[in-house]
Amino acid sequence: MAVISRGEVSYITGAASGIGRALATMLVSQGGLVVIADLNVEAGSKFASELNEKAGSIVAISVEVDTTVWEDQMAAFQQATNIFKRIDYVFANAGIAEHPWLPPFDPETAASRPMVKPDLATADINLTGQLYTAALALQTFERQEIGPSGFRGKLILTASVFGYYPSRAMPLYAASKAGIINFMRSAAQYYANKNITVNAIAPNLVDTPIAPDVLFIPFRERKLLSDMQLVLDQFQKCLGESTINGHALSISQDNVWAHPPDTHMFEENNPACDLISVELFKLFGDSTA
Ligand SMILES: NC(=O)c1ccc[n+]([C@@H]2O[C@H](COP(=O)([O-])OP(=O)(O)OC[C@H]3O[C@@H](n4cnc5c(N)ncnc54)[C@H](O)[C@@H]3O)[C@@H](O)[C@H]2O)c1
Repeated sequence: MAVISRGEVSYITGAASGIGRALATMLVSQGGLVVIADLNVEAGSKFASELNEKAGSIVAISVEVDTTVWEDQMAAFQQATNIFKRIDYVFANAGIAEHPWLPPFDPETAASRPMVKPDLATADINLTGQLYTAALALQTFERQEIGPSGFRGKLILTASVFGYYPSRAMPLYAASKAGIINFMRSAAQYYANKNITVNAIAPNLVDTPIAPDVLFIPFRERKLLSDMQLVLDQFQKCLGESTINGHALSISQDNVWAHPPDTHMFEENNPACDLISVELFKLFGDSTA
């Protein structure tokens, strides 16, 4: 399994809790330096202090970031590069569980209720927030030299199996994660020959504070949770000298697989899809073929 080089720097959004926290702990144990970029600055700062105390040196810094606010993320990236000089890995990880976007379907009462503007918080954080992180990651990598692992940088987004499976209870979560999966595949193509890799990790349900504990009880009972160590193993596969690019590394319970893109009609669509890229790049003034 690919390992990071000592002193390599990771910027991780949502690292004060759950998957991001476990990832930061793993990277520091391998000699890495981490930037904990989280809305919950109290938990982030406490976590950074714990990591620094254990290491006996500064291996972690905490920055208060709302990933949906571009200026917050700009300032956090700036702070990270000022302190650590470069960023080798960016993990666009911060996310939330579904906020119901509409009231429950009820034709009996619908006529007496005003139509509501949908709550798009799930998409704001899970899609827009991660795209802001990605945009800063890719521009940071563009501005730095090739690092110790042979790359300008590596971007890893935390998606979900709901990036390709539908969920009747989580339409906005599924839409956001699907957006992340196909963004990842598209960006991976663009950056493939530019010493930058882009991948996504796509777990099924992992036991973290993302939802109230009561939600996890039936999953624990039926052994339907996905293992955190397996999730970390998939992140690890994207790091160091690894050349994997454009993969959706998926985890469900103790199963692991790289989810294939939907190949139905791919051969028939590919010539037109390819020509769209060629013609668009001409319009954009980009020399990439
Ligand atoms: N836990 C799961 O079952 C599961 C499964 C698949 C994918 N994921 C994804 O993994 C990622 C991490 O989830 P988790 O389970 O570790 O959740 P978590 O709630 O334990 O941690 C999420 C962290 O993100 C932070 N955060 C939330 N909104 C933010 C914002 N706008 N700006 C900055 N920080 C913000 C929170 O403060 C928290 O520290 C999410 O993208 C989630 O969708 C989780």
